[in-house]
Amino acid sequence: MRRLLVTGGAGFIGANFIHYVMAHTDFQVTVLDKLTYAGHESSLKGLPPDRLTFVHGDICDEVLVDALVAGVDAVVHYAAESHNDNSLAAPLPFLQTNIVGSYVLLEAVRKHGKRFHHISTDEVYGDLALDEPLRFTEHTPYNPSSPYSSTKAGSDLLVRAWVRSFGVEATISNCSNNYGPFQHVEKFIPRQITNIIDGIRPKLYGSGENVRDWIHADDHSAAVLLILQRGVPGETYLIGADGERNNKDVIEAILVGMGRPADAYDHVTDRPGHDLRYAIDSSKLRTELGWTPSKADFAAGLAETIHWYRDNEDWWREQKAATEAKYAAAGEQLAGAASRQGR
Ligand code: NAD
Ligand code: TYD
Repeated sequence: MRRLLVTGGAGFIGANFIHYVMAHTDFQVTVLDKLTYAGHESSLKGLPPDRLTFVHGDICDEVLVDALVAGVDAVVHYAAESHNDNSLAAPLPFLQTNIVGSYVLLEAVRKHGKRFHHISTDEVYGDLALDEPLRFTEHTPYNPSSPYSSTKAGSDLLVRAWVRSFGVEATISNCSNNYGPFQHVEKFIPRQITNIIDGIRPKLYGSGENVRDWIHADDHSAAVLLILQRGVPGETYLIGADGERNNKDVIEAILVGMGRPADAYDHVTDRPGHDLRYAIDSSKLRTELGWTPSKADFAAGLAETIHWYRDNEDWWREQKAATEAKYAAAGEQLAGAASRQGR
């Protein structure tokens, strides 16, 4: 397996994966990316041009997908609409890309007999209570909460059906919340870092007790490469680095890491249906494939990420104003402001 088609390779995790593959293999990579608001070809700058081909296009385009899949050994499918808040404001693009686009890819790998790896999220399992020790495993029933997570759950189920009914050689991985370079400034960690750089107070949804299980994007990439090379077709693998933290702790760590007082943030309107806690038990990946995270030190990873956003303002500057305008248009307000206005 030397030729990969990576969908969504100009997005956050896809771009990190391609950097990882370029550094750790001799593979040829073709990227298929629609360059939505979330895609940046510049995230692939500096990679060897003789090993990387960029194709600007839509995974829903059957003719294009068919031709590209015919020319590779395997497909790694990252492309998606990926942000929960956007899915609450406008769900349709999520159905189109996450479900129809995944269907188009599955039909192409089925026709050409190619290996497929589907990138998914732990959010398909819904959420866990804050005060229980339980974590998600490969056997946790699906129970998604948002339009985003329900379309990812739908795509996972399509993959399973194409494995069982048509014998497609596919694996699935469900990973926890990623952080690292090249993440869009709409997402929690880069939004707060770039807010602070811009003199805006960080924004915490609700009480901030919600827990996410953070993993560095490089650790996700290493796991995906391993599954692609050694995973068993038909199997699902959960990816997580034991990085549970509540949002309040993360926002305080960012503030302190950037030399600001830990309480210099605002509480804003909570997200409707906001999942309480995600937590991954990645024992299967660790015991069956021998994966261990090498960047599990969150404090070090966060410091490196803050550094990256400080050093790469050119990369995110153009997205920032539009992103904050989108949050304002969606009705984000300081907590309590809505009830004060109603009085
Ligand atoms: P992202 O939004 O940063 O990037 C998505 C990329 O897909 C963009 O480059 C975009 O242009 C491209 N794209 C969107 N629609 C497309 C279409 N129709 N055709 C072709 N390209 C299209 O997302 P991300 O955070 O990098 O997430 C990548 C994948 O990883 C997604 O499948 C997501 O569900 C999954 N995932 C994300 C996280 C996380 O923490 N961000 C965690 C687990 C799993
Ligand atoms: P996000 O990065 O959107 O990822 P996900 O919804 O997939 O977990 O958000 C991570 C957590 O941070 C989530 O609990 C929502 C919260 N959050 C804030 O508190 N403030 C923000 O400005 C954003 C974008 C998210």
